[in-house]
Amino acid sequence: MALTDQELNRLANEGIDLNNLGKYKTFLEDLQGNIIKAHGRDHSVHLFVKFKPEKPADAKQWIQGFAEKYVTSALLQAEEALQYREKNIPGSVFANFFLSTKGYEYFDTKPFKIPGGQSFRFGMKNESIKNFLGDPPVEKWDSGLQQEIHALILIADDDVVDLLQEVNQICQNLRQVGEIVHREDGFILRNKDGQVIEHFGFADGISQPLFVKRDIDRALQNSGRFDKWDPRARLDLVLVQDPNGKTEYSYGSYLVYRKLEQNVKGFRKDQQRLAQTIEVNDNLAGALIVGRFADGTPVVNSKTPLGATQTNNFNYDEDPQEFGLTPKPSKCPFHAHIRQTNPRGDTGRVESSPNFQQSLDTERKHRIARRAISYGVQDLNQEPTVGSGLLFLCFQANIENQFNFMQAKWANANNFVAVNVGFDPVIGQIPKGGKGNQTWPTTWGDPNTEEVKYDFTPWVNMKGGEYFFAPSLSYLKTITDE
Ligand code: HEM
Repeated sequence: MALTDQELNRLANEGIDLNNLGKYKTFLEDLQGNIIKAHGRDHSVHLFVKFKPEKPADAKQWIQGFAEKYVTSALLQAEEALQYREKNIPGSVFANFFLSTKGYEYFDTKPFKIPGGQSFRFGMKNESIKNFLGDPPVEKWDSGLQQEIHALILIADDDVVDLLQEVNQICQNLRQVGEIVHREDGFILRNKDGQVIEHFGFADGISQPLFVKRDIDRALQNSGRFDKWDPRARLDLVLVQDPNGKTEYSYGSYLVYRKLEQNVKGFRKDQQRLAQTIEVNDNLAGALIVGRFADGTPVVNSKTPLGATQTNNFNYDEDPQEFGLTPKPSKCPFHAHIRQTNPRGDTGRVESSPNFQQSLDTERKHRIARRAISYGVQDLNQEPTVGSGLLFLCFQANIENQFNFMQAKWANANNFVAVNVGFDPVIGQIPKGGKGNQTWPTTWGDPNTEEVKYDFTPWVNMKGGEYFFAPSLSYLKTITDE
């Protein structure tokens, strides 16, 4: 049995009430944490593992033990969050365990028991996937990420000392059954207002699909209404049934992992040059690139930052107001990062679609649950060119229709959402030597604004990654029976 269509619709409207689970308890007990809600810890270590040749029985034993001791269910994550809120008791170390296709194959899993989907089966190093996403050659990736990877282990905690101690122990044990071919240490960066930011200095993680009642209630408080943008989502946006699950409600999710290096100095320089070219201040230039000011204010709402905000109830209905053959937004460029990755109805607007709602519904099925964390230097005064960036993680039910589509068909494309819009300047990956085609409005909010072309080289450099699956806990805890 699985969640029915009716249940999925009802849960999407109301959100899962973690204080009142009823029949959904079994479901959350068997689902790994971090999928329907971020784990929220400040520090996180990612271990990429290749199991020793011809030792699958030992490796299974290790995984079973790790799942029993460490892997955090969605239920435990929710219970610990409640304890923290009510009694200020911090949660335990958080952990996830993910398998790649190579991992399933290492265990000789029968093909029909390996989670499906072409991208997952091929892996991120596959030539056709790389070409589709515009990724650099594997030889240019970090050497550890060039290796065959069977599993990814994520361990997270607020206390970095405790975390590193725990990780040391886990690594010692793990080395008996596998090699840690690569490791990443991530941390949450915050600005002076306490907002979570990424290395370019912009508030991040604001707009997410929401599944949990508490998150929905909070978003409603922040935004007042969901009339311009509804962040709620059905669980099947991120969940699929686990082919190896042992309960009637065993679900998993696909994880896309990408190490994205950020050239902060390069970004700042271009931001300033763009500002000079179109004669606006640096803040507005940055907002035109990202689609939000550094403090989160959507640039479609204002030409100045309005103060730290989680506002997400907005869309691009009035930018431009009239859509003709060559629509020109004057507030938020089509190519701005958040407009390319969530057009909030633009596909219907631009095509003057007779069925706007249908276009919007299709767009909304491309959404992903982002769970990124920064790496590299933690000092915000430095402007690293290499060695710092974002460990980009996102969950979804269908890699082709979600992450891959968003990266390749929207962010990398020159013609989304209209001809010659240019690629997303933050994450668009274009062939080497290629140039952007973006035009920038010079007078914010003036529909007759003059537009100026400004090209730059991308500041985000992909250093490797892989596709994984987050299996249900009932599979991991009985994996030795397989
Ligand atoms: C180093 C790389 C990246 C940086 C610096 C970055 C930065 C940001 C920032 C500052 C925001 C606005 C805050 C928010 O709404 O959460 C944002 C939103 C978003 N980003 Fe990224 N991002 C990066 C990579 C990616 C990638 C690889 C994807 C997917 C292909 C992606 C998809 C999104 C989406 C879907 C949103 C929300 C858009 C919305 O709903 O309005 N980002 N990003």
